[in-house]
Amino acid sequence: MALTPKQKQYRTAQILHWIAFVIIVFNLLSGWRIDNFEPAVKAILMMIHSGIGTTIFLIMLVRWWWRRKNRLYVPPRWWKRPTMVLQWVFYPLLVIQPVVGLAQAAFADFPVVAYGLIPYSSLGPDDPAMRALFLGIHKWIAWILILLVILHALDRGRIFFKDDAAMLAAENRS
Ligand code: HEM
Repeated sequence: MALTPKQKQYRTAQILHWIAFVIIVFNLLSGWRIDNFEPAVKAILMMIHSGIGTTIFLIMLVRWWWRRKNRLYVPPRWWKRPTMVLQWVFYPLLVIQPVVGLAQAAFADFPVVAYGLIPYSSLGPDDPAMRALFLGIHKWIAWILILLVILHALDRGRIFFKDDAAMLAAENRS
């Protein structure tokens, strides 16, 4: 059956969601190991990490715009629903995190060149104190994001099984 325009808009939102999810989890899991590698390998890993981080930033802006433009996921008084608030908290955090990563990279004494094209590490002087400050913030936001991803997954699982149980109950009644 053909999709309605609204269903197509939700489908686009879902595709963007899953692309963002995969690369966010990749950066959240892989970021911690980057410092363990020798400089040449670290430069390549930083190129991947900063490129993916920049892509996350852009995808989050597109997702935000798409949701607002098409008025998706806005049930009445959504701000009173923990599930919806939890979803919305991701947006500012996932826009701030790459910006903090960029600030950190600007003060780093090793190359951070997103996509092999954007030399973030050339944007500022080598400054260990400033880098440590932004690394600390980057780390804290990463921990908050890990916690939120787990909560979000549990919440979606709860809704999934609740809906399933409600459907089974309705079928048994009929
Ligand atoms: C949503 C996007 C991002 C996520 C989830 C993320 C996550 C992480 C995590 C978990 C770490 C490990 C922190 C630690 O070792 O203490 C890290 C390190 C780092 N990130 Fe990101 N990051 C993102 C975007 C970016 C961007 C866009 C840049 C640069 C433009 C960047 C630059 C860095 C740098 C320089 C490090 C330190 C590497 C090291 O020396 O160990 N990050 N990131």
